[in-house]
Amino acid sequence: MRIYTLDTSFELRDGETLLEGLLRTGHQIDYQCRSGFCGTCRVKFTTGLVDYPEPPLAFVGFDEVLPCCCRVLEPLTVDVELQPADDRESLSFTATAATPT
Ligand code: FES
Repeated sequence: MRIYTLDTSFELRDGETLLEGLLRTGHQIDYQCRSGFCGTCRVKFTTGLVDYPEPPLAFVGFDEVLPCCCRVLEPLTVDVELQPADDRESLSFTATAATPT
């Protein structure tokens, strides 16, 4: 399923949540519980269709989606940006520095 963001688009992989896909592709999104409880991952969407296999406990507005626990049913456009390039570089540096030698 194709996901469109403010900066790019990508294909959601089989079995991958929308949150996992956004993180894998370098998007800037906050999250905590990953289970529809806290609402931290809530983002706006402008086109597409989602549902929830398990009704989330967090409030979700008519134009919002919880990427951690929704199921994407149609190509989706979400108001999410890529992480700034500086952040992506520092994450890469941190991962490299943490590798045992
Ligand atoms: S991370 Fe808590 S509702 Fe998505």
